[in-house]
Amino acid sequence: MQTLTDLDLPHLPVETPAFAENPLRYLAEARAKHPWIASSSIGYLVHDYGAIRELLGQDDKLRPAYDGIVEQLGAHGTPWGRFTEEQMISLPVEQHRLLRDTFAAKFTPRYANQMRPMMQGTIRRLLDEWAPKGRFDFEEFASYFPISNMFTLVGAPREEIPSIRASFETLGLAFSMDKRRMPAIHEAFGRVEALVQRLIAERRAHPESGNRDDLLHLLIQTSDEGGIAERQLADLLIFLFVAGYDTSKNVLTHTMYLLLQRPEIYERCGQDHAYCGKVLEEAIRYYNPGQVPRFTSRDVAFRDVLIPRDTMLWFTLSISGRDPIAFPDPERFDPDRQIEPTRRHIAFSLGKHMCLGQFIARAQLQEALHQIPQRLRNPRLVGKFGWRPFPGIWGLHGLPIEFEPVEA
Ligand code: HEM
Repeated sequence: MQTLTDLDLPHLPVETPAFAENPLRYLAEARAKHPWIASSSIGYLVHDYGAIRELLGQDDKLRPAYDGIVEQLGAHGTPWGRFTEEQMISLPVEQHRLLRDTFAAKFTPRYANQMRPMMQGTIRRLLDEWAPKGRFDFEEFASYFPISNMFTLVGAPREEIPSIRASFETLGLAFSMDKRRMPAIHEAFGRVEALVQRLIAERRAHPESGNRDDLLHLLIQTSDEGGIAERQLADLLIFLFVAGYDTSKNVLTHTMYLLLQRPEIYERCGQDHAYCGKVLEEAIRYYNPGQVPRFTSRDVAFRDVLIPRDTMLWFTLSISGRDPIAFPDPERFDPDRQIEPTRRHIAFSLGKHMCLGQFIARAQLQEALHQIPQRLRNPRLVGKFGWRPFPGIWGLHGLPIEFEPVEA
């Protein structure tokens, strides 16, 4: 068995714009040199779908590496650094389990379905406002959708969204591992933290002002029952805002990009609600935003390679759905693709940190996919778009479109 550090691995320039624009091209070359792992400036990248499934499923051998990110960014001791090191995913196993068990009871498919009328109302309102323009940046439009839903879920005033949106946008780029972004990230974190502290203080002062079913009520109730400290309560709320924002926005934007090239699928989404679910799953296989960082918590032997303890691994979920070994003809976009249970996309990760918001994410994206084609007819790309940095939350940057508006 060879030790990881002794292998002659391909090196992936993950930090470059060229990589963000077309990671699959680099990966095809890397695979020829080593089938499942490559080195990079930010750690090792595990990119093979099968290897990600097998390794990431072994929770007992890994620990979340968000403290490693803070270290690489030189942000230890800052408010954002503290938050990132203590956020839900980073908590020690027992504390994490307590929080997760508490909130898993709320984040069920049933709850997400109950929220659908709210989500339908949100996307309808946004389309009423944006569709008459006839032309806009779809990414900007999409950004208002998850944030509006989250604001409603926690009973926060919608009027605050325009002023705080840019801060979520900045925080979403925090894990792109670019130190130059840090001043903006610290400032954005300060704004979001202040908002969250104010929301909690106002709700505590006027408990009757909120809905007894909303998430903020649940968070406050749980913390009062003794399980969660006040600091953690605020951290949790910040985390929920951040975790659900640009993940959902980027998926919606990229799905629109795919559908601009597939007008018949786009049209059908507007007519067939159930079909939107299939389109979404295929769109998330094809592209998703996440790379999951982990440290090995002990020496791990995997496929004849010894990975020493404390090695930083990035699991590239984002492109794992187009691994040609796992998915035949991976570039073909086919919502009716037959996929075996062991070959499902892993966009929401695996194991004990699997996305808690996945049912909410799916429900809101399906509702958007159903209504958008009814209101934006014959959309086409009318300008250039770019790509967000690959590490962290990857995705399209801008998507200028033009269309014929349809009234509600
Ligand atoms: C398409 C949209 C989304 C994608 C692709 C996504 C993806 C992910 C991934 C990959 C993780 C694992 C991160 C890690 O282990 O390091 C995760 C965790 C998490 N996500 Fe999501 N997410 C999405 C939307 C949401 C939404 C809307 C919410 C909240 C309303 C949410 C809440 C969470 C939470 C709380 C965790 C931490 C779970 C834990 O540590 O136990 N996510 N998500």
